[in-house]
Amino acid sequence: MRIAVVPGDGIGVDVTREAVKALEAISRLRSLPFEPVYFPWSADHYLATGETVPPGAFDDLARNFDAIFMGAFGDPRVPDMRHAAEILLGARFALDLYVNYRPVRCLDDRLCPLKGFSASDVDFVVFRENTEGAYVGAGGNFKKGTSEEIAVQEDVSTRKGVERIVRYAFEYARARGRKRVVMSDKSNAMRFVGDLWQRVFFEAAREYPDVESSHLYIDALCMQMVKDPRQFEVIVTNNMFGDIATDLGAALQGGLGMAASGNIHPGRVSMFEPVHGSAPKYAGTGRANPFGAILTAALLLEHLGHSTEAEALEAAVARCVREGRATADVGGSLSTSAAGDAVCERIEFD
Ligand code: NAD
Ligand code: IPM
Ligand code: MN
Repeated sequence: MRIAVVPGDGIGVDVTREAVKALEAISRLRSLPFEPVYFPWSADHYLATGETVPPGAFDDLARNFDAIFMGAFGDPRVPDMRHAAEILLGARFALDLYVNYRPVRCLDDRLCPLKGFSASDVDFVVFRENTEGAYVGAGGNFKKGTSEEIAVQEDVSTRKGVERIVRYAFEYARARGRKRVVMSDKSNAMRFVGDLWQRVFFEAAREYPDVESSHLYIDALCMQMVKDPRQFEVIVTNNMFGDIATDLGAALQGGLGMAASGNIHPGRVSMFEPVHGSAPKYAGTGRANPFGAILTAALLLEHLGHSTEAEALEAAVARCVREGRATADVGGSLSTSAAGDAVCERIEFD
């Protein structure tokens, strides 16, 4: 496994160290060759050199690596987020990673925040369209700084873009024995893109009669996620709604420190990153929870075909949570690196 590693900013650096540690532990236990290659792209690098990502960098990643691991990007010294846009969104767009796979799985009852529910009630996946929507940067402004200022940000959906993420969600449901796919949009207010999503989703649904397909407006979806998460198995939605719904999903898993994600283009080099950001106030303090990043490393392993190893890593994290060998946000008192060590010590294979 030749993995490009971009720790990035803030706690991205702290948690990436633990994710790499976990991959090294797996590599030792299973004699699985693992070679991390580090890239310095970050706010520090940008401020020191003026460079976000060098030209041709994504082509290089696509050619020479099996997968990419990223930490997090965002730094108060770069208020316009230019480096984050060019590194993180840059990778998603340049590598056409159209599937943002964000599992919402609560690993232990003590992490479930909903009254009357337990961990096993929270187990679904969100497929977030990752290359279109409000993220394409279409728009502009006019008369900036005046009282007549105008700002426009376009929400772009294409038939091809909607169709491929919708089909991915159905295929995933079928392959994993999941019975229900919910598409979520805001077609009552955003008529044009909503209409496209509706038609493409329900047309595709006809080809998957074994899977129950339904629709919820995004506001209602958020409410239902909290009211009764048991009803969800697979959710598919656009880029922006998926971003918001998966922070809520993270809360159902025990917080942002527990949530993992993959940015995938089937058959091509894909990128893995925790759902959380750079949490600047925790950077370097040892308070960042590394479990989301370690679970992200498990998604990377799964993606590369090492599902036994992925399951063992996830089980090790679950064991640590259960034993309270964790950081404070999930009820423990360990530092970031001690929590990472605890996971490595608990990896078991039969
Ligand atoms: P954030 O995810 O960085 O942090 C929000 C809060 O969640 C933190 O203050 C902390 O209380 C908690 N939290 C997050 N991760 C945690 C962890 N691993 N362990 C313990 N607690 C954790 O979101 P934010 O504060 O809105 O954003 C900070 C910066 O990160 C911004 O610049 C934002 O744009 C950026 N961001 C980047 C990514 C990414 O790179 N993928 C994702 C989200 C936000
Ligand atoms: C995420 C983040 C990013 C997004 C930001 C940093 C642009 O919130 O990965 O969830 O909105 O996609
Ligand atoms: Mn987000």
